[in-house]
Amino acid sequence: MSVKNIKTICCIGAGYVGGPTMSVIADKCPHLTINVVDLNEERINLWNSDDLSKIPIFEPGLQEIIERVRNKNLFFTTEIKNTIKNSDMIFISVNTPTKTKGIGAGKASDISWVEACTRQVAKYAVGDTIVVEKSTIPVRTAEAIKAILENSKRDNKEKCSFSVLSNPEFLAEGTAIKDLQNPDRILIGGEDASSIQSLKDIYLNWVKEEKIITTNLWSSELSKLTANAFLAQRISSINAMSALCEVTGANVQEVKEAIGLDTRIGSKFLSAGPGFGGSCFKKDILNLTYLCEYFGLPEVASYWEQVISINEWQKYRIYKLVINKLFGNVNKKKIAILGFSFKADTNDTRESPAIFICKQLLNEGAILKIHDPKVDEAQIAFELGELGKENSLNWSFSHNLGNIFDNVEAIVLLTEWEVYKTINWDLVNDKIMTPAWLFDTRRIVNPDKIKNCDFKFWQVGLGNDI
Ligand code: NAD
Ligand code: UGA
Repeated sequence: MSVKNIKTICCIGAGYVGGPTMSVIADKCPHLTINVVDLNEERINLWNSDDLSKIPIFEPGLQEIIERVRNKNLFFTTEIKNTIKNSDMIFISVNTPTKTKGIGAGKASDISWVEACTRQVAKYAVGDTIVVEKSTIPVRTAEAIKAILENSKRDNKEKCSFSVLSNPEFLAEGTAIKDLQNPDRILIGGEDASSIQSLKDIYLNWVKEEKIITTNLWSSELSKLTANAFLAQRISSINAMSALCEVTGANVQEVKEAIGLDTRIGSKFLSAGPGFGGSCFKKDILNLTYLCEYFGLPEVASYWEQVISINEWQKYRIYKLVINKLFGNVNKKKIAILGFSFKADTNDTRESPAIFICKQLLNEGAILKIHDPKVDEAQIAFELGELGKENSLNWSFSHNLGNIFDNVEAIVLLTEWEVYKTINWDLVNDKIMTPAWLFDTRRIVNPDKIKNCDFKFWQVGLGNDI
């Protein structure tokens, strides 16, 4: 078996996956030249910004890596044609959102972007090229990619050959660099042993061989959707139990510890919260349910649908609870919102529970004072959309906690940022109205630290109210 020696890599898509993933590969493999291409010129300019605090993605540890490798063996560009032409291996790392119209709208994955960049690969590639699916896609997408690569008109008359691999990404935002540097496993699906080995050789620069597993293409594609479905299912399960804890006097934290010690269950990913957010869990489960229906398995589809239903309900019940505790009325009441990103250590707001909860509170007439250490005001305005515009005087934003608590009647803590763990609640107590409430949807407030405070306290999954 002759294994192609990879020298030049192209990654199409400079987003949350493409940017950090290629940065780590460049850092670990100085012998490789990596070009990350994107059609979004503004995004590429930000990746190339001299001021490293301006790179478009905030991830702990990313700036340091960019400083080491950018313009040495990692390049960000919008020049697609020559980049594809000069590459031995091409990663497809573009967005695969939920379809908004046509067959499968609201559920199926829209693979237009995957298809569009595959066409570009087909058009410009020369020689033998390995194409790697990094995006999360419906099972059997590799079939479509192969069909496009093998049947499209080319820009040049040279003989070309393609091999398609699936190499899903399992990084989580906020810990992307750590996850990439020390992955639990690397999954490679494919048919061609030599191409699989070429990709494996790249990872072997820093990942132990026993952590690299190979499967057929379809198992690899489906494993990614399955992993996300199982992870989201754990969150919906614990969130469902958090509601039961609250009405029975149980404490979800204690329940979590008790079940987590069972090695078959394990302790990770069992934190109750305001519902999962992020760009992928919801879209990937919707995609999974669509596939189940498509393949004639409606019972399987409705099983997974419940994971999403509980998640929507968790956000709704927290919103309703805030209203109820404030005497059923928040009109003209000032409320501090702590955290807008979907989890700590990221500036990503996609599907953040904060969006739904803030919109509902605004709709009820509340005046929101929103804080987040990394998300900016323009992004919040974007997420609040028309409602945010119509109520522009009813919400304000601040990057620092300075006067966020002045005269508020409630504080709703929605993201588990480290800075919220060290708030001096005694000082906050002097600034807020009375009576007032602190709603901790992330269970990061230590009840001992508020025992001298006047405000009332609610924590997700804590049955202290019966
Ligand atoms: P993203 O939206 O942040 O980035 C995708 C980028 O691709 C965009 O910048 C877009 O301009 C670019 N693009 C689209 N079509 C293009 C084309 N034809 N040519 C050049 N550039 C093009 O998305 P993301 O969060 O990086 O996710 C990418 C994929 O990875 C998705 O399938 C997602 O499900 C999957 N994934 C995401 C994460 C995550 O944490 N965000 C983790 C694992 C897997
Ligand atoms: C998730 C997966 O963890 C990654 O493995 C996967 O690669 C990625 O989706 C993807 O495919 O996009 P991510 O969404 O970035 O990663 O972040 P998570 O840490 O999984 O958190 C997702 C949401 O669940 C967040 O809103 C988080 O606050 C919430 N969560 C997580 C909980 O409410 N409780 C928990 O115990 C864990």
